[in-house]
Amino acid sequence: MKYLMLNHKMNLTFAEAKKYVNEFKELKSNKCELVVFPSYLYLSMFNGDNYSLGSQNVAIKDMGALTGEVAASQLKDLNCKYSLVGHSERREIIKEDDNDFIAKINELINNGIIPVLCVGENKSERESGNTYQVLEQEIISVFSSLDTDSINKIIIAYEPIWAIGTGLVPTNEDIDDTVVYIKKLVKDNYDINIKVLYGGSVNDKNISELDTIPSIDGYLVGGASLDIEKVKTMIKEIN
Ligand code: PGA
Repeated sequence: MKYLMLNHKMNLTFAEAKKYVNEFKELKSNKCELVVFPSYLYLSMFNGDNYSLGSQNVAIKDMGALTGEVAASQLKDLNCKYSLVGHSERREIIKEDDNDFIAKINELINNGIIPVLCVGENKSERESGNTYQVLEQEIISVFSSLDTDSINKIIIAYEPIWAIGTGLVPTNEDIDDTVVYIKKLVKDNYDINIKVLYGGSVNDKNISELDTIPSIDGYLVGGASLDIEKVKTMIKEIN
């Protein structure tokens, strides 16, 4: 069973979110697990049994004095099954670092929530041939501070930064090679068969071709996830 993970980012008004929730509860798939990551504000509106719920972020510590943050135990209480960690927008804009990701992953695991760790190279790293080094550094610097049981629970989302929101997508061969590289890296270092998603400009038009890539376990979709018609098409195209 593949994953179709829908990252709304900082989008939708309250009225749009209500409409989305109503339409979303009609969607079904026996080929993929549908996971929606709405804005924190709307998490409690999403409670259908045809999909799972995810959080776009989590606090570095448990409930208490940390103004403006949301604790993993609060997310658990709202039935969040997954949480993104290390999305490139949080790395680049919010300046989160490996210590944040390690703390967040520990909080999530302590609360039974599955972390989805996002990794990926930027344009200049790719052009200088450093993609694999960047991925190795991003993965190992976090995993080396976690125990094997925790690593076992993590899903990785490979998202080349230059492909996010740009309409640019690597070739199927490139994605396959990179995902195989990530899986081998984790297998060789921790003896774990990790699941790896692809993200970056996935949409209703290109998902059927992406779905022929043998190594990937699913998709993390941003922009196209906001349009229910596109989500319907993506569900149909996944095998
Ligand atoms: P995109 O975003 O599908 O709009 O490229 C993907 C992501 O950032 O998770």
